[in-house]
Amino acid sequence: MSTPALATFDLTKDFSIGFWRKRPYRALDRLTLEITAGEVFGLLGPNGAGKTTTLKLLMQLIFPTSGRAELLGRPLGELSVKRRIGYLPENPYFYDYLTAEELLTYFAGLFGYTGREGRTRASRLLDQVGIGAERRLQLRKFSKGMLQRVGIAQAIINDPELVIFDEPMSGLDPLGRRDVRALVLQLRDRGCTVLFSSHVLGDAEALCSRVAILARGRLIADGSLSDMLAFKARGWELVVAGIDERSVPVAGSRVRRIVQIGYGRYAFELPLEPPPEQLMAELTAAGAHLVSLNPIRESLEDFFIEHVTAPDVTSIRREVAGESRP
Ligand SMILES: Nc1ncnc2c1ncn2[C@@H]1O[C@H](COP(=O)(O)OP(=O)(O)OP(=O)(O)O)[C@@H](O)[C@H]1O
Ligand SMILES: [Mg+2]
Repeated sequence: MSTPALATFDLTKDFSIGFWRKRPYRALDRLTLEITAGEVFGLLGPNGAGKTTTLKLLMQLIFPTSGRAELLGRPLGELSVKRRIGYLPENPYFYDYLTAEELLTYFAGLFGYTGREGRTRASRLLDQVGIGAERRLQLRKFSKGMLQRVGIAQAIINDPELVIFDEPMSGLDPLGRRDVRALVLQLRDRGCTVLFSSHVLGDAEALCSRVAILARGRLIADGSLSDMLAFKARGWELVVAGIDERSVPVAGSRVRRIVQIGYGRYAFELPLEPPPEQLMAELTAAGAHLVSLNPIRESLEDFFIEHVTAPDVTSIRREVAGESRP
């Protein structure tokens, strides 16, 4: 198998908290993860879960209490590897009095793209992230969303093989989010591995091949979205039209919920068992016609809420790994 783009081994970080009496606080607890080259990987979790801590450890902005990590098959800290990765911090802060164009040209220079090459590269990236005429404006006049876009441009100025984005969608309006989604997919199509943290589960669902969910510093689930959510299909939604009110079944064990959508038009929520065919046959016999039948799948949001609020995170981990609860 090819070398993973990123791997962590029991990565752990304790912060020291308290003023008079210092005590350790475990922000990240033995995180072991592997990200395959070319993947878009989402690191998800509620506030304070340890996402930023993980990404900062990978960037060596902070150092682990124990455990280790590798980027592009090499231990952290190798300069040759740093040249091949990009990073967007959680709250990018730039020198206020530079223009976007100057800032990016400066970053291009740090990677050896000088003179005209640097300027062209900076300009192309600003186009790519949708900073147009504002490129000659000082950054202090930029909105949060615009700064976020500059941050993203900065993170990919060196055509990285691996990018690490901490909340790339934060501060962006729906159009901005759409642009960033498209950009992440472009990066992936170029063969770049993308690791990003997010609270926005829809973005993760749209972009990621795999995700990991952290809560209170622990990994509570990781895997492909299809594995995580498919086995959770939990019933059917049957929509019928042209049904006489008297033929509408009553809610019970066969029909969990009934919603009238319009005149003679109903949506029924059915459990997985018994199969929906019997009810469909009864309804069609009563003159209804079938509009749609769809499995009701658990969304990432359902999964997230269910698991992140669960009291015992270790039992969930077992459940996700396919083992039974004790
Ligand atoms: N420098 C620090 N000193 C003490 N505690 C810290 C420090 N940095 C982070 N923490 C704590 O570690 C935990 C994890 O924080 P982290 O910033 O990694 O969370 P996060 O998952 O990125 O959350 P968010 O979604 O809000 O960005 C939190 O409880 C936070 O208070
Ligand atoms: Mg964070």
